[in-house]
Amino acid sequence: MTAPAARGVRISGTGAHLPATRLTNHDLVGMMDTSDDWIVQRTGIRERRRARVDQGETVTTLAEHALKRALEAARCNATDLDLILCATMTPEMDTPSVACRLGHRIGAGRAGAMDLNAACSGFVYALNIAHDLIRAGSATRIAIVGADTVTRSLNYSNAGRNTAVLFGDGAGAAILEGSADPSCGVLAQAMHADGGGWCDIFIPRTEHDFPVDTPPDPSKRGFVQMNGGAIFKFAVGTFPRLIEETLAKASLTPADIDLYICHQSNARILTAARERFGIPEDRVYVNIERVGNTVGASVPICLDDLARAGRTPPGTKVMFLAFGAGLTWASSLWKL
Ligand code: ACO
Repeated sequence: MTAPAARGVRISGTGAHLPATRLTNHDLVGMMDTSDDWIVQRTGIRERRRARVDQGETVTTLAEHALKRALEAARCNATDLDLILCATMTPEMDTPSVACRLGHRIGAGRAGAMDLNAACSGFVYALNIAHDLIRAGSATRIAIVGADTVTRSLNYSNAGRNTAVLFGDGAGAAILEGSADPSCGVLAQAMHADGGGWCDIFIPRTEHDFPVDTPPDPSKRGFVQMNGGAIFKFAVGTFPRLIEETLAKASLTPADIDLYICHQSNARILTAARERFGIPEDRVYVNIERVGNTVGASVPICLDDLARAGRTPPGTKVMFLAFGAGLTWASSLWKL
């Protein structure tokens, strides 16, 4: 039996969608004890978007808009998809998955569909998994989506001010497909998790979901609980290690990479990683100022911004990087 021919994988189209409702730092000042200065200096965020369920905006509708744009950019039909992978930690329901309802809404016929929950790292996990399915010959064309509506789990009062200022809602998508050029696709990747850090960021549902040494406070149920200092330290340590690990696997140096597309959690975290490797500012894309931290949507929204600005021509070397709840962290280094 002969092995299937190794084949290239390309990103043939991208799309993104943000809810209509803007929430500026000044809007937040009216809801809690905070200031535009505090938020901008600590995070770099000036505004974020909020999905309005009462206006029909849900994680699935955001994902639908983003995916339709990606299909249009890839010039293919929903029926051409073999699989839809949706990275989300905020599905409307426990079941069915967002991906199944999304496939139905876009008319994807019998394409496989499933969600993947790796929080903010989800889209980068999905990139690696979808890539390898195509490279192995198990699929020809896969839609990957990152979509989250985490604002529904934020407490817009003083009790939740350390998280309410950070997050926003959104969706981004990409179409991956086989390519005749075997040199394009993933050059190196990494996917990691450490469940020992789960309680540094979590959303408790019941009294049983709190760490053993924490009194189960009913007022915190349903809201993001975060140890900001611990996550900050984790991120500042993880990003450089992840960059080093990925570059070593590909035998490349920081200067060989044309673009770093990173999860947008805090502008200071991105600046620290960039300065550590002496990477020029224009190679680390930052859009956190206008969208905040959109969880699983963060990386694909950046990718779509860059693709539509003409900054991702074939041959570009792009490193995708993310970290998030779980704790999880992942990279995907591509030659486009
Ligand atoms: N406005 C004003 N003051 C605030 C606010 C706010 N919104 N939130 C907290 N404060 C106060 C705190 O109560 C504290 O007051 P105190 O000194 O009187 O106790 C003071 O500001 C400083 O708080 P710190 O937590 O020390 O502030 P820090 O400089 O660490 O910044 C921040 C906080 C921005 C949350 C930072 O820790 C951070 O970015 N951490 C990483 C967060 C992150 O990336 N989360 C998401 C990752 S996982 C995922 O994406 C799903």
